[in-house]
Amino acid sequence: MNVLVTGGAGFIGSHTCVTLLQAGHAVIVADNLCNSKSETVEKIKLITGKELIFYQIDVTAETEVHRIFASHPIDGVIHFAGFKAVCESVEKPLAYYYNNTVSTMLLAKCCLQYGVKKFIFSSSATVYGENRVPFAETMELLPAANPYGETKVISERILKDTARANPAFAVSLLRYFNPVGAHESGLIGESPQGIPNNLMPYITQVAAGKLEKLNIFGDDYPTPDGTGVRDYIHVTDLAEGHVSALDQLSEGVHIYNLGTGAGTSVLQLVKAFEEANGIKVPYEIVSRRAGDIASCYADAAKAKRELGWTAKRGIIDMCRDAWLFEKSLSS
Ligand code: NAD
Ligand code: UD1
Repeated sequence: MNVLVTGGAGFIGSHTCVTLLQAGHAVIVADNLCNSKSETVEKIKLITGKELIFYQIDVTAETEVHRIFASHPIDGVIHFAGFKAVCESVEKPLAYYYNNTVSTMLLAKCCLQYGVKKFIFSSSATVYGENRVPFAETMELLPAANPYGETKVISERILKDTARANPAFAVSLLRYFNPVGAHESGLIGESPQGIPNNLMPYITQVAAGKLEKLNIFGDDYPTPDGTGVRDYIHVTDLAEGHVSALDQLSEGVHIYNLGTGAGTSVLQLVKAFEEANGIKVPYEIVSRRAGDIASCYADAAKAKRELGWTAKRGIIDMCRDAWLFEKSLSS
């Protein structure tokens, strides 16, 4: 298939481009590089030994997006492009609503106009809010605690309604849990700008000596050791989940959790990182972070049953590959 990957230079998009190319698909990337670098596109080519087409464009810009659809016979779209920082979304709600929902509407509109029948959307476990774990696709969505989460709920709704009104349009809504790790080559990974918000990049930067210590946000949650529990998933497993979803996408709307189904606490992740890499990660317990929930992990049965996809890589692999990438940044 010819696949248009928006946000293909970003963390999850770049790994998905690698997996798509390795599976024999042709890839067109559209990314304005607002949170990524053009070098990543070169590294995707280096890892796979294959070419791809790259457009540095904003996917909310109507003329440019139309030009791509008019220039290539596209079979499917995977829409990763978007803003993703929860705190920033509270400060800049309009920027988040605009970027994340206008891009979805414009791409869906182009799909209908140019006869593109497959659409895969990057959603998030954040749409489950404070439902009871494990989160299953059948659960009612709860209002998100921040504008970022709302953009995912709204985009899902836009795509569901569009598919309902256009029965030939096939949509897959993929709800990611906590993607971490990096490509096993260490060439591509996650490099957040400024001080990281998320746990794994914070741990790798402490291990690298860029940050003094990890602040663990609370040890009084109702979890086995009191620290927050999440479903960390290796980004390569997540990428493979997209290729499975694309290959098997049929008419209608399909919703899948992409997680491992297993919860890991903050302290367990720190211990696993130390064990995998033989490095100490100094930490301190501090107060809870506003907006955090105690536990978040997937019921991952539906993706296994319908797509035949399960995550293959474990916590130690995630810690090893995340550290490999961090080391490559300073070498
Ligand atoms: P990322 O920031 O690394 O990648 C997003 C890419 O989109 C970047 O390369 C950025 O330059 C590009 N982009 C943003 N707005 C654009 C626009 N208007 N036009 C063109 N390019 C644009 O983020 P990621 O972690 O790879 O996340 C990808 C998607 O998955 C996002 O939609 C995110 O909300 C979603 N998601 C991520 C996580 C996570 O933990 N990383 C969890 C759940 C869902
Ligand atoms: C965060 C976002 C969520 C988003 C997800 C994936 C918030 C409130 N939620 O979720 O919407 O979908 O990232 O990008 O930002 N932790 C520490 N110290 C740190 C960082 C994190 O103890 O320096 C803890 C957190 O309290 C949590 C766990 O580590 O228990 C994971 O945190 P994080 O990586 O930020 O992911 P989420 O909170 O799941």
